[in-house]
Amino acid sequence: MQILVTGGAGFIGSNFVHLTLAQRPDAQITVLDALTYAGTKASLDGVLDKITFVEGDIADAELVDRLVGEADLVVHFAAESHNDNSLANPWPFVQTNLIGTYTLLEAVRKHNVRYHHVSTDEVYGDLELDDPERFSESTPYNPSSPYSSTKAGSDLLVRAWVRSFGVQATISNCSNNYGPRQHVEKFIPRQITNVIDGVRPKLYGAGLNVRDWIHVDDHNTGVWAIIDRGQIGETYLIGADGEVNNVTVVRDILELMGKSAGDFDHVTDRAGHDLRYAIDSTRLRTELGWEPQYRDFRSGLQATIDWYKDNEAWWRPMKAETEAKYASTQQVVQ
Ligand code: NAD
Ligand code: DAU
Repeated sequence: MQILVTGGAGFIGSNFVHLTLAQRPDAQITVLDALTYAGTKASLDGVLDKITFVEGDIADAELVDRLVGEADLVVHFAAESHNDNSLANPWPFVQTNLIGTYTLLEAVRKHNVRYHHVSTDEVYGDLELDDPERFSESTPYNPSSPYSSTKAGSDLLVRAWVRSFGVQATISNCSNNYGPRQHVEKFIPRQITNVIDGVRPKLYGAGLNVRDWIHVDDHNTGVWAIIDRGQIGETYLIGADGEVNNVTVVRDILELMGKSAGDFDHVTDRAGHDLRYAIDSTRLRTELGWEPQYRDFRSGLQATIDWYKDNEAWWRPMKAETEAKYASTQQVVQ
């Protein structure tokens, strides 16, 4: 099977490539990635000789048309993915998440190629801390940030292309991922690498916001369950019952790294900061038989800490620039 993976040099896409090559000997993978600040070929170390890597933009219609024409399946991970960046400059989010997805959809429509669209639980907005309901496939869209609104828009494009043009597509909306090869701008790797550097972790606001953590490999086995057994035109939520608030995550990281659990700073909160995400993944589990393998967050976190300790060469080139960007907008508020 010839698979086109967009965003395969990013966090989840690169882990998808590693997992797929390990589990599916028949997979022939082409990665299309623009190598933005968030993508690096180093994330494909060890497998670059087993795949075809194309550096290019998903909004480049001619290139996308050619690559989609050679594929049996497109798995679309490429995106501008960071909320803080979308608040500083929304334009790349509109361009990549909306125009890029549109460009892919026109190509899969023309070539009648199976398409899986990777999206986020943030399209549903946020929940109160005590809300007994979690997000499900029928929750109305209510995105908060430029990032989540462009992801919501991209999902709606997919739904329209399915209904109006018969495109063979599925959609997944997953909660917060953690694991190896995640950019140090994101919460967990930022704090781990801060502690390695002797810098205090930075917590937005009071740190009571809740995220529903899932290991990246569990996300990707969920994506494969949907590709293999999902119904065309349908949406599936991927989540592993991993709700934890941010202050608990910071304390866990500090403890697991041998530091005092109170050794962190409160910094300026994110504008429009979503309070809580929580996924009900009953549909994926009951209809498609998917189950997460990483059930203990602290041991998954420990493995992730070990990965960052062992792979400083991977993250070091991006650390200083990332922290300089944060320093220009965030102050300690203790
Ligand atoms: P990431 O930022 O780590 O990687 C994105 C990749 O896309 C990078 O390699 C980048 O170079 C590439 N890219 C960006 N713009 C491009 C363009 N115009 N053309 C080609 N390539 C381009 O993101 P991630 O965290 O791996 O997220 C992957 C997907 O999963 C995204 O669609 C995101 O919305 C979704 N998602 C992420 C999470 C999460 O917790 N990280 C959770 C649910 C869904
Ligand atoms: O829910 C899925 C989404 O999860 C994905 O769609 C996004 O691509 C991904 O980036 C992630 O979005 P979040 O905004 O939830 O992730 P982030 O890692 O930026 O932040 C997680 C939480 O931690 C959030 O409440 C903000 C907080 N935070 C973040 C950073 C970077 C801090 O307290 N301190 C920090 O330094």
